[in-house]
Amino acid sequence: MEYYYFKSYKEASKKGAGIIASQVILKPNSILGLATGSTPIGTYKELIELYKNKTLNFENCKSFNLDEYVGLNHEHDQSYYYFMHDNLFNHINMKEENINVPDGMAKDVDKFCKEYDEKIDREGGVDIQLLGIGSDGHIGFNEPATSFSIGTHKETLKDITRKDNARFFKSLDEVPTHAITMGLLTIMKAKKILIMACGQGKKDIFEKALHGPVVPEVPASILQFHPHVYAIFSEEGCN
Ligand code: GLP
Repeated sequence: MEYYYFKSYKEASKKGAGIIASQVILKPNSILGLATGSTPIGTYKELIELYKNKTLNFENCKSFNLDEYVGLNHEHDQSYYYFMHDNLFNHINMKEENINVPDGMAKDVDKFCKEYDEKIDREGGVDIQLLGIGSDGHIGFNEPATSFSIGTHKETLKDITRKDNARFFKSLDEVPTHAITMGLLTIMKAKKILIMACGQGKKDIFEKALHGPVVPEVPASILQFHPHVYAIFSEEGCN
C-alpha cells in the first residue's frame, strides 16, 4: 500500500488526480471506477483542469460508478448519476455511451446487478477504482458485515449512513433506504485502488480500515489484501 498524507485538501486532491491522470496517459482506453461523495470533488476539479489544459483526453476511457440510490432517477439532483455529470462528466470529453452508473430505477434489480458485473468483466475489468470511505467504514455502499465475497447487489443503508448523507437532502426522511452498490468482490477485482479520506472525522476509521484487523465489520479493511492500493489522507476536511 502506498500511503500519502497531506495537510491540505487541495494537495491531496492534486495527488489523487495525478494518480488517475498517469493511468489515463499510460492507457488512454482505461476503465475508470468512479465514486461520489464530497471527498472526490477536489480530485474531479483537478482532472477537469488537466483536461482543459489538454494534458488529459478521456475520449477513449470508459467509467463504471460504484453505486446509486434506489428510487432516484437521473434528473434527481441527489442521484449519483446527476452528481457525476455535475461534478465531472459535463466538463470532460468522456462519451455518454461509455459512462456507466448503476440504475436506481431498475425494475429487476438482481438482474441489473448481475449484468453490471458482467459488463465490467467484458470490458476487461476496472483499471483503477476511486473510493471514499463512510464513517462506519463502508466503501461504495457496502455496509458493515456485508460479505467480503459479494458482487454488485442491493444494500440496505445503515442509519448512520443515512444520517451522514442527510446533509444533501431536505430532510432525513428523503434519504433513500436502499442503494445498488458494486460489492466488495467487484471492488477487489479492480487492478488498482485509490482510497481517499479527508478531515478529522474520517481519521480514526481510515486508520482502522488500513491498519486494523481485516473483518467484515469494517468493509474497507479488505483493501489490506489488495496488491495495489494508494491511500490518500488530508488533515483538512473537504466540507
Ligand atoms: C456515500 C458513498 C460513498 C462515500 C461516502 C462518504 O455513502 N456511497 O461512496 O465514500 O458517502 O462520503 P463523503 O466523501 O461525502 O464523506
